[in-house]
Amino acid sequence: MRTAVIVLQWIVRLCFAGLLILGIMFWTGHAFDLIPVHMTLGIALVVALWITAIIGFAARVPIGQSLVAIVWGFVVIGLGMSQARLLPGSSHWVIQVLHLLVGMAAIGMNEGLARAIKERSEPH
Ligand code: HEM
Repeated sequence: MRTAVIVLQWIVRLCFAGLLILGIMFWTGHAFDLIPVHMTLGIALVVALWITAIIGFAARVPIGQSLVAIVWGFVVIGLGMSQARLLPGSSHWVIQVLHLLVGMAAIGMNEGLARAIKERSEPH
C-alpha cells in the first residue's frame, strides 16, 4: 500500500509540474496547441488522486478526507473543461487564478492523503 501511494504521489507531482509549465505558457500566450496535453495531464492527476482516495478508504484515514478528495477531483475536471468559456473578456483572469488555486488544492489533498495513509501503514 505504501509503495502504491508513493508511486501515485510522484505521478501527481510530475503531472503538476507539467501542468504548471504548460499553464504558464498558455498564460503568456504560447503553445495553445498543447492544451489537449495539458488536459490529459490534468485528468491523469485527478485519476491518481482518486486512486489515492480509494486507498485511503482501505487504510481507514478519516472518511471525510477521502470523500472531499473525490468530490474535488470532479471540481478540477469540471472547471478545467469549462475554463475557456467562463467569464470571457477582461474578467477571465479571475477564472485563471481560480483554476490554478483549485488545481493546487488538489495537490495539497493528495499530499495530505498520502501522509495519512503512510502513517497508518507503518509497521508497529
Ligand atoms: C492540478 C491541475 C491543474 C493545474 C495546476 C492547471 C494549471 C493551469 C494554468 C496555470 C493555466 C493557465 C492559466 C489559465 O488559462 O487558467 C491553465 C490553463 C488551462 N487549463 Fe489547466 N490546470 C490543471 C488542470 C486542468 C484540467 C483537469 C483541465 C481540463 C480537463 C485543464 C484545462 C485547462 C485549459 C483548457 C486551459 C487554457 C484555458 C485558456 O487559456 O483558455 N486544466 N491550467
